[in-house]
Amino acid sequence: MRKAVCPGSFDPVTNGHIDIVSRASQLFDEVVVAVGVNKSKARRLFSAEERMEMLEKVCAPFPNVSVAGFEGLLTTFCEQHGIRAIVKGLRAVSDFDYELQMAQMNSSLVDVETVFIPTSPEYSFLASSLVKEVATFGGDVSGLVPPDVLTRLTQRLAERAAAGEEDRS
Ligand code: PNS
Repeated sequence: MRKAVCPGSFDPVTNGHIDIVSRASQLFDEVVVAVGVNKSKARRLFSAEERMEMLEKVCAPFPNVSVAGFEGLLTTFCEQHGIRAIVKGLRAVSDFDYELQMAQMNSSLVDVETVFIPTSPEYSFLASSLVKEVATFGGDVSGLVPPDVLTRLTQRLAERAAAGEEDRS
């Protein structure tokens, strides 16, 4: 049984993430989409539970994909779940340096390999942070996130605006 993890912050999940998860699900018997903590992105728009709820909905069409959350190291999660492959999407060369460093660090910690999947060209510019920024200023992101995510995003940004808060995540 070939098992892989697709880790990320998913704040929120975008169509680019779904593209990678969908393609990973064709390469592996079982794929776990794991919501983790990126220390450099401390401030979140959605809680871990909310991000997992959105992922569960969008991953429902893929029978071999499940959703989990983790705290701490990704490599610990891999060990606990008998996972030896980490799947990451690569959008551009700019992603590569950091992803390579993480891949090498992770494989120095435990017996895991990182498999890079090139993002489909139509999503090469897509990042959760940009989606949030564009949506905050009223831009149309309906083609970039699933409909349920769009609804929640619009709602959350309206709540934040009403509370006089700007999103700095
Ligand atoms: O979507 P992101 O923010 O690029 O996801 C990054 C994430 C959460 C996958 C990464 O920060 C991570 O693996 N965090 C868990 C802590 C960890 O293992 N850190 C060491 C990385 S070498």
